[in-house]
Amino acid sequence: MTDTIFVTGASGHLGQRVIHHLLERGVAPSRIIAGTRDPAKLGDLAARGIIVRAADFNDKPGLVKAFAGADTVLIISTDALDGAGTRQRQHITAVEAATEAGAKRLAYTSLPVPETSKVSFAPDHLNTEKAVKATGLPHLLFRDNWYQENLFMALPHAFASGQWYTSAGDGRIAYVARDDVAAAIAGALVNWPAESMTYTLTGTEAFDNGEVAKLASAAIGKPLQVVNLTDEQLAGGMKSAGLPEAIIPTIVSFDTAARAGDLAVITGDVEALSGRKSKPLKTFLEENKAALAG
Ligand SMILES: NC(=O)c1ccc[n+]([C@@H]2O[C@H](COP(=O)([O-])OP(=O)(O)OC[C@H]3O[C@@H](n4cnc5c(N)ncnc54)[C@H](OP(=O)(O)O)[C@@H]3O)[C@@H](O)[C@H]2O)c1
Repeated sequence: MTDTIFVTGASGHLGQRVIHHLLERGVAPSRIIAGTRDPAKLGDLAARGIIVRAADFNDKPGLVKAFAGADTVLIISTDALDGAGTRQRQHITAVEAATEAGAKRLAYTSLPVPETSKVSFAPDHLNTEKAVKATGLPHLLFRDNWYQENLFMALPHAFASGQWYTSAGDGRIAYVARDDVAAAIAGALVNWPAESMTYTLTGTEAFDNGEVAKLASAAIGKPLQVVNLTDEQLAGGMKSAGLPEAIIPTIVSFDTAARAGDLAVITGDVEALSGRKSKPLKTFLEENKAALAG
C-alpha cells in the first residue's frame, strides 16, 4: 500500500491539477486526500474515490482532524492577501496542524528568492518555509515562479487600450505554465527524494515586458505598446483607474520585483520533476489568444 498524500486547496486551479497528475502517475484515488474549505465543490473527486475533507487554515482543530492519517501533506499557499498577516498565520497553522496530526513529510508552495524578493508578500513565504524546516520533518519547498496564466490579468486590459503600463523596465520573468508546476509537484511527491529539497519551478526562458508584448502582438494580431513608468506613476495610474487602494502596493511590487530580477531565475527543475517538456510562453499566448486579446 502506498502512502497517503493530502493536497490542501484542492478546489483551486493548482490543487486540482496536482491531483490530476497524481492520478496520472498511478496514485490510487483512495490514497489521495483532497482538502478544501468547501467539500461540496469536490463531488467529482469524491465520485472517483478520492477522500474529500473539510480543511480551513483558519480552523486549527478542524485541520488537525483533517490531516489525520495523511503521510505527506502538500500545503498550497492561500490567496489571503489582506496585508494584515492573515496568510502567514494560515500557513503556519497548517504546518503546525500537519505536524500535530502526525504527518511524515511536508511540502509547501513558495515563491522564488523569498529571502530577498521585492514581492510584498515574500515574507509570508519565507516565514512559512522557516516553519516547515523547523518541524524537522522531511520536506520539499516548491518556489513557483509567475504562472503564464497571470497574463490573463495584465494583457486583456493592455490590448483593450493598446498600451501596457509597467514599471518592470527590462526586468525579465521566467513565466511557467501552472499545469507544468502541478506536474512537477506531483512528480516530486510521488518520487520523494532522499533529502529535503528546495526547487525553483520556472519556465525555460525569461522575457521582459517588451518581449512579451512582441510575442503577444504576433500571436493575437493586435499592436501593443509598452509604456515604462516609475513605481509611483504606476501606483498613481492604478488609483486613478479605481483599483482598491489596499491592493495597489502588492501589484506594484510585482513590477518592482521583476525589475530587480527576482523573477528571472531559470532552472531545469520543472522538466526534471515532471519528466516532460515545459510549455513555451509563445505556445501559451497562441493557445489563449482569444482570451488575451481584450
Ligand atoms: N506563482 C504565481 O504566479 C501565483 C499566481 C497566483 C497565485 N499563486 C499562489 O498559488 C496558490 C495556488 O494558486 P491557484 O492558481 O490554485 O490559486 P486559486 O485557484 O485562487 O486557489 C486559491 C487557493 O487558496 C486556498 N485557500 C484560500 N483560503 C484558504 C483557507 N482559509 N484554508 C485553506 N485553503 C485556502 C483555496 O482552497 P479551497 O478554495 O479549495 O479551500 C485555493 O486552493 C494561490 O493560493 C497563491 O498563494 C501563485
